[in-house]
Amino acid sequence: MINKEQIQEKLTQVIYPGFTKNIMDFGFVKEIIIQNNTVSIHLDIPSSAEEIEDQLREEISKRLSFLGEFQTEISVTKPKMPRETSSHGKNVLPNIQNFVMVSSGKGGVGKSTTTVNLAIALAQQGKRVGLLDADIYGPNIPRMMGIEGKQPVFLGKTIKPILAHNIKVMSIGSLVERGASLIWKGAMVTQAIEQMLEDIEWGTLDVLLFDMPPGTGDAQLALAQSLPVTSGVCVTTPQKVALDDTIRSMDMFTQLHIPIAGIVENMSGFICPDSGKEYDIFGKGTTQPLADNYNTEVLGEIPIEPAIREGGDSGLPITVLAPNCETSKRYQEIASKLWEKLLAVNEEGGVNNEVIQPTIF
Ligand SMILES: Nc1ncnc2c1ncn2[C@@H]1O[C@H](COP(=O)(O)OP(=O)(O)OP(=O)(O)O)[C@@H](O)[C@H]1O
Ligand SMILES: [Mg+2]
Repeated sequence: MINKEQIQEKLTQVIYPGFTKNIMDFGFVKEIIIQNNTVSIHLDIPSSAEEIEDQLREEISKRLSFLGEFQTEISVTKPKMPRETSSHGKNVLPNIQNFVMVSSGKGGVGKSTTTVNLAIALAQQGKRVGLLDADIYGPNIPRMMGIEGKQPVFLGKTIKPILAHNIKVMSIGSLVERGASLIWKGAMVTQAIEQMLEDIEWGTLDVLLFDMPPGTGDAQLALAQSLPVTSGVCVTTPQKVALDDTIRSMDMFTQLHIPIAGIVENMSGFICPDSGKEYDIFGKGTTQPLADNYNTEVLGEIPIEPAIREGGDSGLPITVLAPNCETSKRYQEIASKLWEKLLAVNEEGGVNNEVIQPTIF
C-alpha cells in the first residue's frame, strides 16, 4: 500500500494554475488521509473560480494514478463567490473575486508603495492578483513595478495588462500621453476609469487592487459606482496632520458603503541601520485610536526604510528583493489580514449598497 510521503511527493508536482509554485509549497494541502483503499485529500485554495478547482482535481488524479490502483477523494474549501453588483446594479468584471481600493486623504504617504508591496505579498501567497493604477494625475506604478515605458498589447478593442512580478498591471499612465492627463476634469477621470475597467482583459483574478490618487474625489466615486468594492484600505503616516486627512478618507469609505479592511501606518518609526536603534520620526502608534473610532484595525506598521524607497525607484519592490526581511514580513502579515477581511465580507454577503450621494465630496 502507498504511504503519505509518496502522496506528498506526487502533490509537489501539481503546480497551482497561473503560478510556478506547487500546491504543497503554497500550503494549500491541508490533510492527507489514507484508509483502506482510499486516499482523501483536503485542499484549501484562495480562488472561488470553478475552473481552478476542476484543473486541480484533474491534475491530482492524474499524478496519483502513477502510484497504482486506489480510490481518491478530493475535497476543496474555497472562498464564497463575490457579491455581484455595485451600488448601481452592475458589475462589469464578474471574473474578479475581490476589489480593493487603497486610499489616503493625504498625498505622498506611501499609498502606491503600500499597494505594490501588498499586491506582491498576496501573489506570493498564491492569489491571482491584478493592480490598476487609477492615479491619473500622477501614475507611479509603472516605475515601481519596473515596467516604465513598456506598452501594453492591444487585441482589437481590448488591452492586455502587463505582467510584472507575477501581477497583472495596468496603468492609465501607460495609455495616456505624458502631460495630457494633467488637464483632465472630473468627468473625464470618471469616464477613463470606467473605460479602463471594461476594456482591460484581466481574466480571472482573486483580487484586483486599485492605487488611487490622493484625496477623496472623482476617481474614488467612479470606482465605487462601477464596481462592488469589497474593501477599502487606508494608508496614513503617524503625524497628527496626516491623521486629519485620514479621517476624510475613512468617512469617504463609510459614505460610499465600502467596508473598511483597516489602516496601514506607513513611515512608522525608523530603525537606524548603523546602530539598530529605533527613532520615532513622525511619531508611532497614533493610528490606533482612529482605527478604534471607526471600528476597524491597524493592519500593520511599516517603518521608514531606505530599501523601500530604493525598491520603488528601481522597480524591484522590497517584497521581491528581500522577501524575508522584517519589513517584507510585515507586508505579508498585512496581506494575510486583508485577505481574511475579504473572506469575511464575502461570507457576510456584502454590505448595504445604497445609492451614493455624489455631492458629499
Ligand atoms: N516606509 C517607507 N520608507 C521609505 N520610503 C518610503 C516609505 N513609504 C514610501 N516611501 C517613499 O516615499 C515616496 C512617496 O511614496 P508613494 O509614492 O508610495 O506615496 P503616495 O501616497 O502614493 O503618493 P501620491 O499621493 O503622490 O500618489 C516614494 O519615494 C516612496 O519610495
Ligand atoms: Mg501614489
